[in-house]
Amino acid sequence: MGYSSMWEPGEPGVPADLRPEIPHPARMYDYYLGGKDNFPADRAAAERALAANPEFRSTARANRAFLTRAVRCVADLGIDQFLDIGTGIPTAGNTHEIAQAVDPGARVVYVDNDPIVLAHARALMGGTAVGRTTVIQSDLRRPDELLAATEAEKLLDFDRPMALVLAAVLHFVPDREGPYEIVRTLLDTLAPGSHLILSHGTADFIPAEVRDRVTGVYDKATAPLVGRSREQVRDFLDGLEVLDPGVVTVPLWRPGNTPAPGSDRVSMYGAVARKP
Ligand SMILES: C[S@@+](CC[C@H](N)C(=O)[O-])C[C@H]1O[C@@H](n2cnc3c(N)ncnc32)[C@H](O)[C@@H]1O
Repeated sequence: MGYSSMWEPGEPGVPADLRPEIPHPARMYDYYLGGKDNFPADRAAAERALAANPEFRSTARANRAFLTRAVRCVADLGIDQFLDIGTGIPTAGNTHEIAQAVDPGARVVYVDNDPIVLAHARALMGGTAVGRTTVIQSDLRRPDELLAATEAEKLLDFDRPMALVLAAVLHFVPDREGPYEIVRTLLDTLAPGSHLILSHGTADFIPAEVRDRVTGVYDKATAPLVGRSREQVRDFLDGLEVLDPGVVTVPLWRPGNTPAPGSDRVSMYGAVARKP
């Protein structure tokens, strides 16, 4: 059920922390993916972003497909615990579904700072994943608190390898918030043999004027959008062993079949890397 059938902005009973009048990246992303969990302000902002760059929608889908392939790859390598930060509103092919299809005992902690995601994810966890999947509200920009909250759940064993999933979330952390230090803090806590699954938006393939229009839309949302170059994305993987094929646009990361024309210019990079 979408929000449109649950609550409308201004209606009595809309939870205050949903802030339906301010566009949220999670709900805008849901709209790109064809979901119903968004309000008019989210849809209007998403339409403005799509008007500036119509490829936003296909980029979101390509990112989800990358996430599926990357989680399956890491699960096939024997990783059975996942810390997925910046979870997003549940949609088809969530991390726990992919990981638990490979290993039914796989454990997943979802983390998001958006209460909407929490509400949905908790409803989803009401099913078969109970005991092996949980969701917490915490902020990537405060990694020490996030790690403490995760450890308090006692679901993941930090003495064993796990996968850290940072899919389409680091581009909401501007340089002034120290994104590289945040990733370092998280990786330092993980056992050797852990893997990082990373995807990150880029403006490498779009004209500056399009980038500025898109940035302008997100500047009015609850989080700004910061595209980073391939080199800047590669810098997140410093000290890690990057799995083939390296840092590539998401459709080109181990595609199942022949990539569509233009796949090398999709505005999202993806990579998987191993902590030695
Ligand atoms: C574009 S969605 C990505 C969802 C999913 N990871 C995927 O790749 O399909 C970004 C998510 O990151 C969350 N997010 C943004 N900034 C965050 C932060 N500082 N801490 C935790 N979550 C954040 C948003 O609420 C949203 O759910």
